[in-house]
Formats: sequence, structure tokens, C-alpha cells
Amino acid sequence: MAAPIAVAIDAPDIETAARWASAVAPHVSTVKVGLELYLRYGPDVITTIRGGNRVSLFLDLKLHDIPATVSGAARAVARLRPSLLTVHAAGGADMIRAAVDAAPETRIAAVTVLTSLDDAALERTGVRGPASDAVRRLAVLAVEAGARALVCSPHEVASLRAEVGPDITMITPGVRPAGADRGDQARVATPEEALAAGADLLVVGRPITRAADPGAAAASIAAALRRAGAGTGTRSV
Ligand code: C5P
Repeated sequence: MAAPIAVAIDAPDIETAARWASAVAPHVSTVKVGLELYLRYGPDVITTIRGGNRVSLFLDLKLHDIPATVSGAARAVARLRPSLLTVHAAGGADMIRAAVDAAPETRIAAVTVLTSLDDAALERTGVRGPASDAVRRLAVLAVEAGARALVCSPHEVASLRAEVGPDITMITPGVRPAGADRGDQARVATPEEALAAGADLLVVGRPITRAADPGAAAASIAAALRRAGAGTGTRSV
């Protein structure tokens, strides 16, 4: 079984994206395409990345607009059959529901508070209180509006799981194998720690894509997860 890893294909161009996707596809369940690549190439990049690979697509577009616009956008990308599509929970319940209704075959994943915002930066946007309170509030709101997945830090998984129950897919970026370069990620956890905290899908980018051999790096993290019990008790995505 492919490991519950979504490789963030944050590539500078479509050729590199295709190469990385093919290298990691035998080892992981999912590849994640974000705004930069999608805005540059559109649906072509999805077709290219899929190629002959049997991986699920996580479309990380973080939609945030009025419900009618998000509905249209979600419907437009639903044709690409992503398994996951992100929206900002801060867009509100009606907006989240609009995405859910427009893409019934896709699991809508809500982003709560961007991890790039600390408490002070968040307060400047008008959101009071510690970021952790906002994360919890937005997570509950998103799930009540029909989101079936949440994007959160490995350090938030356990407490959010207690709020939203067992059926919500918990997706965690900020994952670094022990000894790997943290890059710009401040609060990191190892893949085994994220899994133990209850994550269902681990987003891993540069530790895999910037390795000398991305396929081998993906295989090595997948093997570590198997040793830690992935696929025995956790939900698959
Ligand atoms: O290279 P790295 O493993 O840091 O990549 C993490 C991926 O997850 C990137 O695509 C980044 O945009 C995304 N992400 C994140 N933190 C969030 C949400 C998304 O790092 N809170």
C-alpha cells in the first residue's frame, strides 16, 4: 500500500514537476499541486503530472471568495477529479458549503490559520486571541459546513481530532525526517510523530523533492511510516 504521504510538487516548471511526480508515485498515495504551478500551467500540469502514475491529486488552491465564485471555481476544477481541494475556512460557512456542493466527488479540506501568521500578525487582521483558539473555532465551523478534511500543524492534530471526531481527514505539513533541513518551517515533527499524533496524510515537500534522488527519499520515508504502523490502524485517504 502506498504510504499516506502527499508530496508537495512545488516545482519551478512543468518538466521538473513531471519528473518528481513519476519518481515518487510508486511510493506515496498522493501528489500535491499548489497555486504557483497551477496558475502558471493550469489543467495541463495535472494531466502531465498524472501521466501513467496512479496517485491521487491534492489540489492546494486555498480558495477564498464569495460563495458563488468559490462554487464556480470548485466546479471548474472538479472536472480534474482531485481527491482533495483546499479552501480557507475564514471564508465562512456558506463559502465552504458552496465548495462542498460544487465538488461532490472531492474531499474539501479547510485551511484554518496560515502557519505563517503568529498571534501578533493574526491580531492585526482583526482576529483576537491566541491563534490556537482561532484554529479550533475555524476547524469546527468548517466541519459543520461540510469540510471532510483539515490542514493543520502536527502539533494541532490531537486537539483538533478531539473537537471534530474520527471521520475527518487530518492533513499535516511541517513534516521533517529527523536530521532533515527545516527550511522555513518553524514547528516541525517527524513523519512518525505526525502519524502517532493522529495525522492521516503527511505533506512533505523539499525533504523529498530536493533530495539527490527524490524516489529514494520518498521510499525511505514510506518505509519509516510502515515500520511505525501506517496502514494498520490509520484511515487511508
Ligand atoms: O517543502 P515543505 O515540506 O515545507 O512543503 C510543505 C508544503 O505544504 C508546501 O507546499 C507549503 O505551501 C504547504 N503548506 C505548509 N504549511 C501550511 C499549509 C501548507 O507548509 N500550513
